[in-house]
Amino acid sequence: MQLTDCSDAVHALASGSACGKAILLGEHAVVYGQPAIAVPIVDVRAQARVWAGSPGTGPAVYAADLAARFTPESDDQRGTGLVLAAQAAIDAFMGQGPPLIDLEIELRSLVPMARGMGSSAATSAAIVRAIAAHAHLSLDPAVLSRLVYLAEMHYHGNPSGVDNTVVAFERPVWFTRGSAPVFMPVGVSLHLLLADTGVPSRTRDTVAQVRAWRERDAATVDGLTAAIGALVCQAREHLDQGDLAGLGQAMSANHALLRLLGVSTPALDTLVEAASAAGALGAKLCGGGGGGCAVVLCPSGRADAISAALRRAGAQKLYETTIATA
Ligand code: MEV
Repeated sequence: MQLTDCSDAVHALASGSACGKAILLGEHAVVYGQPAIAVPIVDVRAQARVWAGSPGTGPAVYAADLAARFTPESDDQRGTGLVLAAQAAIDAFMGQGPPLIDLEIELRSLVPMARGMGSSAATSAAIVRAIAAHAHLSLDPAVLSRLVYLAEMHYHGNPSGVDNTVVAFERPVWFTRGSAPVFMPVGVSLHLLLADTGVPSRTRDTVAQVRAWRERDAATVDGLTAAIGALVCQAREHLDQGDLAGLGQAMSANHALLRLLGVSTPALDTLVEAASAAGALGAKLCGGGGGGCAVVLCPSGRADAISAALRRAGAQKLYETTIATA
């Protein structure tokens, strides 16, 4: 079968879902070997369903939110990474279950695209999980993370690996490029708001912008990324000790350094300032910057007031989530 809209299609053979993410501290610096702390946003998810496709069609992905169908032959850039994730899963799982070659995959996602919330990793992970479920495989998160990384390379050029890791494991993570991820116990619940500027931004572009600056002036960029790394280390201690005020201060200081790194925008700065003025413990841009979302740490009982302030300051959409203690 070929999907155009699955709403009244016959039951799928299998399905999978994956969550979005927020980086609490350390984006961009993590590309250059500094640590980052990322958390899963488990209630904002992408969902993939698998059907048997027509013989000879290869994997096809129908992205319902875009009303577009992508195949290995499509030259539409929006779908290349999705088909790549499907193909990577098919190659990895081939021979371990029912025939996997010609699959029709439907994708729907609540993770906003190009907003720093891990949409590319979430959609790829949902596709890989659905194909693994179709092959009756119990999927090791480390394998999932590796497969999603292949698609992330397509989207981001030189990804650190933090997004695929947090999305695949769905656990708060201390991530350093090239090292095994460390899953962090969170000693205190984190009440987060993600405030969307409504401006899409490609991580690939802001990462390339920082890289270009570093090629001209390594000393300055390395100084900024080292300072971010130091804040990430402080934040880990605050998290260990359940010190929310200290964590929030480190997040806001991280935003100031990201501004100096040139990846914030006036709209992001306005949201961060509005959140702080309304009583947030800390706020910063989240992910690649250049648009997208701010992540805000709220003291208990203040989320409604901070949400209202963020709306007045221009937030187009708000996501509220709690990272539970573990
Ligand atoms: C994107 O979510 C985080 C960045 O640090 C890029 C990366 O780590 O690959 C901006």
